[in-house]
Amino acid sequence: MAISNTNSSQTMQQQIEKRLAIQHLRSVTASLTTTAGSDVVKGLTQTPKTLPPRYFYDDKGSELFEQICELPEYYVTRTETAILQECAREIAEITGKCEFVELGSGSSTKSRILLNAYQNLGLPLRYLPIDVSAGMLENSAKQLLFDYPTLEISALAGTYELALQQLPKKQLPSRMIAFIGSTLGNLNPQECEIFFLQITQALHSEEYFLLGIDLQKPKHILEAAYNDSQGVTAAFNLNMLEHINWLYNGNFDTTQFEHFAFYNENENQIEMHLRSLQQQTVKLNALNLIINFARDETIMTEISRKFDIATIKQQLSTHDLITQKVWTDPNNWFGLLLCQLQ
Ligand code: TRP
Repeated sequence: MAISNTNSSQTMQQQIEKRLAIQHLRSVTASLTTTAGSDVVKGLTQTPKTLPPRYFYDDKGSELFEQICELPEYYVTRTETAILQECAREIAEITGKCEFVELGSGSSTKSRILLNAYQNLGLPLRYLPIDVSAGMLENSAKQLLFDYPTLEISALAGTYELALQQLPKKQLPSRMIAFIGSTLGNLNPQECEIFFLQITQALHSEEYFLLGIDLQKPKHILEAAYNDSQGVTAAFNLNMLEHINWLYNGNFDTTQFEHFAFYNENENQIEMHLRSLQQQTVKLNALNLIINFARDETIMTEISRKFDIATIKQQLSTHDLITQKVWTDPNNWFGLLLCQLQ
């Protein structure tokens, strides 16, 4: 009995490995520790001070982010998931046989809703998850292959930019690139324009782009979502300083900074900062950097822009991305747009 179990689990393992390809686009850690130290120097020596959001995501940061998605005040994940559950079948019907490329796939929880829809229509399943966290990518890919016996996965570990330039050859009649979770909101307008260009360069005519965006809504709802009562978002924000200490041999004292997030109504964006609780000096030895903070001075760590559907449709159309269908929730808090490249 034990022997036959081992044999069958080995066969299962081989079965899974046959359906999995992982391409490592560039060593993410190497690029973080060497070339990218310059982005920290640049951000901390300018006024006002900033730090790039990608430093949120060490292992602890990724774990805290998963917790943010579950918070009662953080409506974003829950609302988008509910919309996907409503419209996934329709998306699969519109696209037909189609490869599903996902930017920032993370734990692939929401991706399963789309995979189920393709599976229920008897369509072939081919998934191309893209994420900077190679570990997360591999674990969730293996779990998915176990759960979907006909699924094929071609995963890309690296940045969106690199991955979009190096997508493997298409094996099904069409392709859909999904960018959900309102990650678009974390790009400033200029980065957003560049991103749309990269999308249109990666797609062929008549292929699809699925975009999830958080919509404008009253300030108190937005501010509660980014200032949760359990302090998880605060821990996530402060963890960036720990991560930077670790990478660059620094001495940020996280008890001397506090999380500070507010909605800037003129710019329609949440701004997340770390505020210095006293006048202090911080050293990042590996970067040869000494930074002075005045009391109450802040470092901006992230923006989260909030959109309106008409404006974003218009902007997409300037890139020949034509919106075929829009889905929202009953409160109109979140939007999911299916676009097709002209
Ligand atoms: N893109 C999502 C948002 O802007 C998720 C996210 C990214 C986020 N960074 C964050 C949520 C920082 C909270 C805090 O909401």
